[in-house]
Amino acid sequence: MLSQQQLKQEVARAAVEYVLPLLQPNAIIGVGTGSTANFFIDALAAHKGRFRGAVSSSDRSSARLTALGIHVFDLNDVQSMPVYVDGADEIDAGLHMVKGGGGALTREKIVASVAEQFVCIVDESKLVKQLGRFPLPVEVIPMAVNAVAREFIRLGARPVLREGFITDNGCPVLDVAGLAIADPVQFESRVNNMPGVVTCGLFAISGADIALMSTQDGVKQLRRASS
Ligand code: 5RP
Repeated sequence: MLSQQQLKQEVARAAVEYVLPLLQPNAIIGVGTGSTANFFIDALAAHKGRFRGAVSSSDRSSARLTALGIHVFDLNDVQSMPVYVDGADEIDAGLHMVKGGGGALTREKIVASVAEQFVCIVDESKLVKQLGRFPLPVEVIPMAVNAVAREFIRLGARPVLREGFITDNGCPVLDVAGLAIADPVQFESRVNNMPGVVTCGLFAISGADIALMSTQDGVKQLRRASS
């Protein structure tokens, strides 16, 4: 029986095998944040001569990439990326995700938006029928924390300020529990439209293109149920 850590390592290795054929020698790869993304960075480092460098979604991932000899580019200096690879806190059959458990949601969404393909790497515990059991991370402009929290309370949810945490963008995060997200695309728009919200951790309007999911029986590829 593989532990969750081993499952994360397995899917990270599978992701490297998946992305290598997509990388030209001048390619820049988008890299996410979290423990699964860390395993991906570690496995990717063995192939650093096969591509030009990376854009990362957090200072933590940038430091890890740099320490392993992978050059990190500023996104402003990059026009395109063939692929963005990142974990998720929850994913459904439509490949909509909840992300941001590590607090990097805004940069994750930005970097992913520039990549041609989002490859989500998860272990099987992350697959859910309906998003919302994992509290939804919402990055908020500091002066709007209480106003946004009240909006969620009006929706019947339970927002909690992430104690002692500030994002790489200098903003706090509300973790919103008690949501059953029946329509992730519509709900992402609704939250994004709350004044003071920087980004919410729903990745539904633009979800993953493919998910690699490690199970006790090996790594499976999930494509969108509708495609
Ligand atoms: C960070 C994220 C991560 O992808 C998400 O929290 C999953 O993390 P892990 O791979 O450690 O389970 O969105 O902001």
